[in-house]
Amino acid sequence: QPRRLAGTILAYAKNIDHLENLGAAVTKMVRRHVETGVKAEHYPYVAEALLPAIRDVVGAEVATDDVLAAWGEAYWMLADILIAAEAE
Ligand code: HEM
Repeated sequence: QPRRLAGTILAYAKNIDHLENLGAAVTKMVRRHVETGVKAEHYPYVAEALLPAIRDVVGAEVATDDVLAAWGEAYWMLADILIAAEAE
């Protein structure tokens, strides 16, 4: 699961200006999340764990406040897409 999530985050970062490339990956995530009972209210917990984890892994010199704030925005952009598709 950590490897899958890290791989997804990297693919997402590489495609942030080409979200149309992520269609198949998003479909798989949505399917798995629905199968395992992921709910909209769970998303803030992952954000609260993920953003400090990025800082822990790459270091505070690289993951500055501005960088983490940008990742926070990017997280919620993808989370909102997933939440809407999962509700559907
Ligand atoms: C933007 C946020 C998230 C991303 C990018 C993400 C990404 C992924 C990916 C790539 C998979 C694997 C899909 C596959 O089988 O191909 C997955 C599975 C899963 N995710 Fe998420 N996820 C997010 C949020 C969450 C949240 C909020 C929860 C619940 C706390 C969650 C729980 C799970 C679970 C339980 C699985 C299935 C794990 C398994 O197959 O063993 N995810 N997610």
